[in-house]
Amino acid sequence: MLESESEEDFSIPGEPHGPGDIWLIPLKMLDDDARAIQLGAVAELAVEAQQREFVGDPLRMMLISLEEESRFPYVIESGGVAVGVLTLQSGAATLAGWPDDESVWLLRGFLIDSKCQGRGLGTLAARASVEEARKLMARLGGGQAGVVLSVNERNPAGLAAYTKAGFVDSGRYVGGSAGPQRTMYKSFG
Ligand SMILES: CC(C)(COP(=O)(O)OP(=O)(O)OC[C@H]1O[C@@H](n2cnc3c(N)ncnc32)[C@H](O)[C@@H]1OP(=O)(O)O)[C@@H](O)C(=O)NCCC(=O)NCCS
Repeated sequence: MLESESEEDFSIPGEPHGPGDIWLIPLKMLDDDARAIQLGAVAELAVEAQQREFVGDPLRMMLISLEEESRFPYVIESGGVAVGVLTLQSGAATLAGWPDDESVWLLRGFLIDSKCQGRGLGTLAARASVEEARKLMARLGGGQAGVVLSVNERNPAGLAAYTKAGFVDSGRYVGGSAGPQRTMYKSFG
């Protein structure tokens, strides 16, 4: 059902396996039945009201990403349960304040369900997304050098999770609708 390469263990080396293990489930790689089950689980995900300005509705984001060729939607699973979503997109990096669209992948639509936040899952998933983007690049071509995202300056959880995952602040971006953002980047190197 799943590509074996997407069932990797992204736990932090040296830390015990268990609730900290996450998997990225590539929705476009699933058959219709498996995808429907995943989307049912995504429909149950939510973030607190004060976080909603930073991210869209998870089910809607997954459905949009499934329709667009350049987007690759993933369900983040931990312990066999859906805990969040993210999307990788090619050819759209300027949406995060990057100077061009093509040289890096864009990470967007990233969230961890509010009941599962604060356990390190966001950090693990952000790190795993870079490895997944590198595999997409190897499979599809494109020659991208890494992954970029934008995060609102008023979003401490996002800033902390991405920083812990190894993303580096590469400047301010004022294009977002919810106020100034930080452009953050992690290379495949
Ligand atoms: C951003 C988000 C994905 C992080 O997920 P998470 O699973 O809670 O992240 P982690 O548990 O890995 O936490 C990462 C760090 O952020 C810190 N953190 C979490 N909430 C915080 C807050 N409100 N203020 C300050 N730091 C916070 C954690 O303490 C942790 O650092 P630590 O390990 O040094 O304590 C999650 O908060 C979320 O889904 N938010 C709503 C949607 C959103 O903002 N998405 C990002 C859009 S760019």
